[in-house]
Amino acid sequence: MRHVKYHHPQMSSNPGGQLAPNQIVGRDDLIASMWSVLKGRSIYMNDLRRIGKTQIMVKMHAAPPADWVTAKCDLGGIHTAAEFATQAYRLSAAALSRTTRVLRSMHKLLGQAGGLEIAGLVKLPDGTPAPWKEVLRRTFADIEEAMCDQGPGHRMLFLWDEVPFLLSNISHRESPEVAMQVLDMLRALGQDHDRIRLLLTGSIGLHHVLTGLKAQGYNGSPLNRMDHIQPGPLTPKHGVELARTLLQGDGIRCDDWDRCATELASAVGHVPFYIHRLVSRLPKADATTPKTIQDLLDREITADTNDWDLQHYRDRLRPYYGPDEKLALGVLDAVAVNEPLDFQAIRREVNMSGAVDDERLRALLKLLCQDHYLTRTPENQYRFYLSLIRRWWRLNRSLS
Ligand SMILES: Nc1ncnc2c1ncn2[C@@H]1O[C@H](COP(=O)(O)OP(=O)(O)O)[C@@H](O)[C@H]1O
Ligand SMILES: [Mg+2]
Repeated sequence: MRHVKYHHPQMSSNPGGQLAPNQIVGRDDLIASMWSVLKGRSIYMNDLRRIGKTQIMVKMHAAPPADWVTAKCDLGGIHTAAEFATQAYRLSAAALSRTTRVLRSMHKLLGQAGGLEIAGLVKLPDGTPAPWKEVLRRTFADIEEAMCDQGPGHRMLFLWDEVPFLLSNISHRESPEVAMQVLDMLRALGQDHDRIRLLLTGSIGLHHVLTGLKAQGYNGSPLNRMDHIQPGPLTPKHGVELARTLLQGDGIRCDDWDRCATELASAVGHVPFYIHRLVSRLPKADATTPKTIQDLLDREITADTNDWDLQHYRDRLRPYYGPDEKLALGVLDAVAVNEPLDFQAIRREVNMSGAVDDERLRALLKLLCQDHYLTRTPENQYRFYLSLIRRWWRLNRSLS
């Protein structure tokens, strides 16, 4: 039995939990390239939920480059534009307090009682809630000034997690108009201040939120000046490293650590959440082998009640694709069995009756890629984005 030491501390499986920065494996090259992009523009990071976006943010927030100040917030629990603006102000004040700067124009707005909050909102001296746009504008102007004072190259980064949830929350609690205004505000704020950058994430495509808003008359393309990043699974090297660290941390017995770690990480396509999940289910008493790993994985993902979060890839087809649900199922079934497939092959599979218009099929394939069911290979063929979803799809739908 060989033991390899990594720089990670003793670490046990913790699927879905919050990790300490030194338990977050890999992502360093991606993070370095993101800091370099952020010098020039803001970033929108979109990928499937559980792929590891939040942990990337945690790692960035824990160790920013010297000239950067960071503020991080999960927007999923925020339901109104005023709460959002208050949160931005509060975070900025906290992040900048280290540098003795006050947010000058916000201070003026709020008067002597500055920052007094009632029910989570900042209040004006007369007791009414400060208008949210004003709060955001002034907060950003103040930060810009503070960063300029600190010297060339100093910048602040807002790490705002789960923007689509914020927008849909606001859309429900307030109105679609307010959600549109917040979206426009994000675009404007992200563009107008050279010393402030945004790193936004989303687990569902913004296109779903926009479709709803467009039905209400919105016609902006709010985030198209931002850099779009899709982190994807870990690199195989880091997937295996995580698997091995967790196998050891959980005290799993196996004769060949290298083989088991490699088998386990690649069986789940190097998605860190699935690596944690699978290791957490390995029996501690019996010796683990590549075969027991594969068998356990199949049992796990096909169990009637399971917590792998896979069923929602099936369930959301109806709300996402409406009348095209059946067609989407046909496409995914065909690709699951025979990937990779090119357009003509998919067309033959789902359009035997000739009833499906080519353009409708093209549009659907594009959406399936945007929603990260499928991905397009350099050879212009379609395959599943995550191998585990394909594996589950075939088992779940009893395809060969
Ligand atoms: N780089 C990583 N190293 C170790 N574990 C990770 C890493 N990224 C994600 N995880 C695991 O996957 C889970 C989901 O990650 P998270 O960042 O919350 O995904 P997302 O924000 O994309 O939904 C985490 O709770 C953790 O168990
Ligand atoms: Mg997250």
